[in-house]
Amino acid sequence: MAIIINNLTHIYNKKTDIETSALNNISLKLKDHFFTAIIGKTGSGKTTFLQHLNGLLIPNDGEVILDDFKITSNYKKSKKNILEIRKKVGYLFQFSENQLFENTVLDDVMFAPLNFKIEKEEAKKLAIEALKLVNLNETLYEKSPLNLSGGEKRRAALAGILALKPKYLLLDEPTSGLDVTGKNDLIKLLKKLYESGVSILLVTHDMDLVLNCCNDVILMDKGKVIDFNDVYSVFKRDDLENYGIVRPKIFEFCKDFEKFIDINKVKNIDDFIMELKKNGK
Ligand SMILES: Nc1ncnc2c1ncn2[C@@H]1O[C@H](COP(=O)(O)OP(=O)(O)OP(=O)(O)O)[C@@H](O)[C@H]1O
Ligand SMILES: [Mg+2]
Repeated sequence: MAIIINNLTHIYNKKTDIETSALNNISLKLKDHFFTAIIGKTGSGKTTFLQHLNGLLIPNDGEVILDDFKITSNYKKSKKNILEIRKKVGYLFQFSENQLFENTVLDDVMFAPLNFKIEKEEAKKLAIEALKLVNLNETLYEKSPLNLSGGEKRRAALAGILALKPKYLLLDEPTSGLDVTGKNDLIKLLKKLYESGVSILLVTHDMDLVLNCCNDVILMDKGKVIDFNDVYSVFKRDDLENYGIVRPKIFEFCKDFEKFIDINKVKNIDDFIMELKKNGK
């Protein structure tokens, strides 16, 4: 049981003047339990790729296998199919907070389970469980989502997805627009979700986030996968600049200490200090 992509190709506006080839014959297999980042220049196809993994987009060619579920060009966007995928794969849109629309935070988080015909009391239980998981204070449950801070709104949007207990979580630029506290809270939450068994695939331009959280990286360019490897191997590539990637400062800094510390263990400044101390420097 895994996510497997075979020869995935996506062309927007096929056979028109504005035809754009966004994904070009991509094949890869994600680990059974993953925390993976997709990185690459703007327009390289990251969002297009991510949207194929929960049926938001359908391949023009090739296939997406989600455990026992297969999406090909013949896939029908029936309500039954869509619900089955959405239960398995949660998708947090970029600036997801703009999609909160109910009168209260609790109602918003209950929306997905209710949509799955889960009975009201059970939907409420699932919603409260998810709100606790994202660490939103109980005093906010009956507030309008419009009155929350940016970080709180994003966590509320995530709670709406987590209420269905998805096995896979896809996130498009989850930290963009958040302040430092909002970002740190989200990082903590994503790590907790991963440790609890959820597999996470996120698109980001934030390389500190990649180093801090992820195990593997998919490097994309012009609709192709250039590399799919562990974080350190990708960040060590000599040609990274060609793909618009600037390594995290802490990674550059660590490279000078490679003789003294195990660079593979350093995900942030705290790890760096710990490694130095451990090695008596
Ligand atoms: N809805 C659409 N209609 C037509 N073309 C699109 C559409 N969405 C994306 N494209 C094109 O497909 C290509 C890949 O776009 P995509 O949004 O997947 O890139 P991205 O890597 O997510 O970029 P960014 O980092 O800017 O979010 C680009 O050339 C883009 O212009
Ligand atoms: Mg994008």
